[in-house]
Amino acid sequence: MTVVGPLKQAELRVDPQRIQDRLQKLAAIGALPGGGVCRLALSDADRQARGLVVDWMCELGLSVSIDAIGNITGLRPGRCSGPPVMTGSHIDSVRSGGIYDGTLGVVAGLEAVEVLNHGGLDTEHSLAVSVFTNEEGVRFTPDMMGSMVHQGHLELATALGARDNAGMTVGAELERIGYRGVADSAVVRPRAYVELHIEQGPVLEHDTIDIGVVEAVQGISWTKVIVDGVANHAGTTPMARRHDAGFAAGAITAFVRGLTKRIGNDQVGTVGMIDLSPNVINVIPERAELTVDLRNTDEERLLAAERELHGFLRRIAEKEGVRITHRQLARFKPVEFDPGMTALIEDHARSLGLSTKRMSSGAGHDAQAFAPNCPTAMIFVPSVGGVSHSVQERTRLEDIENGANVLLKTLRALAG
Ligand code: GLV
Ligand code: MN
Ligand code: MN
Repeated sequence: MTVVGPLKQAELRVDPQRIQDRLQKLAAIGALPGGGVCRLALSDADRQARGLVVDWMCELGLSVSIDAIGNITGLRPGRCSGPPVMTGSHIDSVRSGGIYDGTLGVVAGLEAVEVLNHGGLDTEHSLAVSVFTNEEGVRFTPDMMGSMVHQGHLELATALGARDNAGMTVGAELERIGYRGVADSAVVRPRAYVELHIEQGPVLEHDTIDIGVVEAVQGISWTKVIVDGVANHAGTTPMARRHDAGFAAGAITAFVRGLTKRIGNDQVGTVGMIDLSPNVINVIPERAELTVDLRNTDEERLLAAERELHGFLRRIAEKEGVRITHRQLARFKPVEFDPGMTALIEDHARSLGLSTKRMSSGAGHDAQAFAPNCPTAMIFVPSVGGVSHSVQERTRLEDIENGANVLLKTLRALAG
């Protein structure tokens, strides 16, 4: 690549309209009424969105590879061979997802490449923009599946064997949508990893801050609980003779709320899914399947929350005369990002005249897979009303532009 002019780093800026156009094109795939998307990992919608991103990568002249867990990487070679500076995120969504969660990081990464291409600028180190498989963990667990395999924290065979509720495996679904690739991701240890993401919480908007400099990600514990009770007539069965799986599920939900208050220190807890069988008005539920999501920035407190939950499951099983089994679906310890990287992001944001705040992330992110292996950090931009994992998720274009400019400057500094 030839350098066509003495463009200074300070003059490089992203084009917000181009970012918006790409976000809207992705938003049309799996679109939901109300403005969100349903693009579950390895669904047809995911396949279609992947196709669009691969087309964009090719148009930008990136060399595209797909690895064995379906991660897509577009590489822009640098002057020297060696590990790339990476950015990226995910384009899968939760069932009622917003259009920015994950996609912003991917689109902003492509925009950075586009700006460098237009400026005729090459870099010392290669730049890679990646799309990671199944970050959300809604259809297949664990979440952050692609990035965890990529960085050697999750066995490929385990990930490929994960099944959805219909019994389909990740491996078979990757095959079906044409994204079971051959590239060997596990050997890629990037020079550095930086990811732009929406905050998904209320802090930046509340404090009127432009850029969140993410120093840490809280620990995540996901548990599946199955309660087996006894189905019986809702009108004829005396209350004292019931073995009600639905009641146990409700009690567990209430217990999780109480647990968060007792532990404090930003402990959060959610029962996001309850399935009752037979799920009719006049039958005592015989089975309940539910999930418990516990998160804390402090590993000791998270362990204590898990212990308390397990103790309650034993107690409620005995009290209601039901059988309770549980298994872990995902477990991530809290992660700290690299101080040099956070300082770099902060400096670049400030040089653009933007206000910054150091913060930790409540959501899980692909970046946390990279943190143990290379200098890593994240850039957050405000979420309107702190809403995410909802069709109402929104981030203002001005904030998107700010975040993408910080990403561009940071990538450029890292790539040399
Ligand atoms: C992923 O978005 C998570 O934090 O659950
Ligand atoms: Mn996300
Ligand atoms: Mn998400």
